[in-house]
Amino acid sequence: FIREKMAQKNLFFFHLSGTPVYSVAWGPDSEKVLYTAGKQLIIKPLQPNAKVLQWKAHDGIILKVDWNSVNDLILSAGEDCKYKVWDSYSRPLYNSQPHEHPITSVAWAPDGELFAVGSFHTLRLCDKTGWSYALEKPNTGSIFNIAWSIDGTQIAGACGNGHVVFAHVVEQHWEWKNFQVTLTKRRAMQVRNVLNDAVDLLEFRDRVIKASLNYAHLVVSTSLQCYVFSTKNWNTPIIFDLKEGTVSLILQAERHFLLVDGSSIYLYSYEGRFISSPKFPGMRTDILNAQTVSLSNDTIAIRDKADEKIIFLFEASTGKPLGDGKFLSHKNEILEIALDQKGLTNDRKIAFIDKNRDLCITSVKRFGKEEQIIKLGTMVHTLAWNDTCNILCGLQDTRFIVWYYPNTVYVDRDILPKTLYEGDASEFSKNPHIVSFVGNQVTIRRADGSLVHINISPYPAILHEYVSSSKWEDAVRLCRFVKEQTMWACLAAMAVANRDMTTAEIAYAAIGEIDKVQYINSIKVFHLKNQNGPHTTFSGNIQEAEIVLLQAGLVYQAIQININLYNWERALELAVKYKTHVDTVLAYRQKFLETFDKQETNKRYLHYAEGLQIDWEKIKAKIEMEITKEREQSSSSQSSKSMGLKP
Ligand SMILES: *[C@@H]1O[C@H](CO)[C@@H](O)[C@H](O)[C@H]1NC(C)=O
Ligand SMILES: *[C@@H]1O[C@H](CO)[C@@H](O)[C@H](O)[C@H]1NC(C)=O
Repeated sequence: FIREKMAQKNLFFFHLSGTPVYSVAWGPDSEKVLYTAGKQLIIKPLQPNAKVLQWKAHDGIILKVDWNSVNDLILSAGEDCKYKVWDSYSRPLYNSQPHEHPITSVAWAPDGELFAVGSFHTLRLCDKTGWSYALEKPNTGSIFNIAWSIDGTQIAGACGNGHVVFAHVVEQHWEWKNFQVTLTKRRAMQVRNVLNDAVDLLEFRDRVIKASLNYAHLVVSTSLQCYVFSTKNWNTPIIFDLKEGTVSLILQAERHFLLVDGSSIYLYSYEGRFISSPKFPGMRTDILNAQTVSLSNDTIAIRDKADEKIIFLFEASTGKPLGDGKFLSHKNEILEIALDQKGLTNDRKIAFIDKNRDLCITSVKRFGKEEQIIKLGTMVHTLAWNDTCNILCGLQDTRFIVWYYPNTVYVDRDILPKTLYEGDASEFSKNPHIVSFVGNQVTIRRADGSLVHINISPYPAILHEYVSSSKWEDAVRLCRFVKEQTMWACLAAMAVANRDMTTAEIAYAAIGEIDKVQYINSIKVFHLKNQNGPHTTFSGNIQEAEIVLLQAGLVYQAIQININLYNWERALELAVKYKTHVDTVLAYRQKFLETFDKQETNKRYLHYAEGLQIDWEKIKAKIEMEITKEREQSSSSQSSKSMGLKP
């Protein structure tokens, strides 16, 4: 019957060599098939003429493959007694030590967090990054096939000795601050408070499927219900029935948590109140994981599967799309997303890593003029936000990087490198993964499963706190005390972002950015009048500053900021366009050339300089006039400074 059914359809054969094919697996989008051919792995897209990807994956015949639709990772196992993890571009992510016997089976858990490995008398449970959680030596012969239950809590193995073996996944751990939670049995958990060694036992009516511990709450889903415990009181959880009872992901923010249950996403408060359920056309919940969904107090972000270049953004409290349903669209496929957790909703940022391993950041609010997507770094494999202040850390190639104030890219991109911490990460071996960023400690899991702790400076976090409560004097005092360029650079950017120009001036002076100090002087007058005006930014966006000044009729200031930043072409262009201060521009240009002992070669400058006598007295008088005029316009002129120009 099957043959008849198939024959009525078309049967295609695309691998026509003599080598036996031992294993096949579908890709996540059902548009590609992965199969084995001797020591080679082959990914064949089903569209005609699409490129086939083929690579040598093992030193022996490959016996088994699996491809997970959630994390898009590939497993392979072979007669060379090794199992390996690959990404779908054939890049190796993990390579096991050789075992005593060929590896006869590998299988992903449905959510892609774990996989199981079978061999002769051997069953192993591994993390998705390859390292081994648990090893069992059952009397089974070779395990030829492994199947996971849909909820990812149990496995069954097909054994060479005629048995079928079952196993439950227990002893999972969750940690937060001083609490350690362990799943001890299928329906029981143990909570240990490491401060006083107090132990609490939690019992559940049904099998535990998923759990998450963060922000002083433990959220547990069983096959029917959801339990919410507060770390302050383990005895009286809030319990409510699940809508569908197949929770595949729990994510927490300080205000609420999110469940991916069956085909929907549900947001609940910690009191168990349903809040919202965001949706978009073609949403596939089966492939969502912690890398493709992110939650903050105000926002839910989801990377789409149908088009991996797109991130959907929702208002958490209503589940409605943000900003008229405008989604965020990037030029490349996006692998991992993360919302920052602190600060005002209007400043909410999302960081993400794309297919080229570029780390980018952009604003979540996408009203009106689309916020730019800005690249923060390249070759980044993993990222994490600290959740009490917006500090981002990541592993970049062989470096460990902390972006103490990622927002710097929006105010002054030039000084971004000065706001980073960089450490050597080559000792972490390949594909380390950031587990947590708690306090000043970043915990990294190496590919072999061992944990490494890195301590970062506590001062930037304190600086964030001062700035968020506008304690500028304390912030300056802290920087003077710590005496580090990184701190001053962060403070400079924070001050500009918050339009505290006095602090910005001090901070820029401390890192020797004299141009910026001058520039601040030149815009101060304007800012005094426009406390609530748009952001004024540096080179990252000098055009914007210029537009702001021109709109306010401050043509001379717009010209002067270009002069200060040696944007000679633009300075002259503006002067000519507005028929003012052409002589000022020429005078500064001449002064600049003299200082650097250069000859004029620019054609436009040569043209306008022809026959013009530079008269500094006249120019100074004109500038004085401009400044007086602006002072008169300015309501609070007493503290505004003049340009301090000394020809
Ligand atoms: C997030 O929500 C919690 C609880 O409502 C609140 O205490 C906290 O201040 C919020 N955080 C931010 C950054 O808004
Ligand atoms: C973030 O950093 C602050 C300050 O260093 C720390 O107190 C807090 O615990 C950190 N939070 C997390 C979850 O990383």
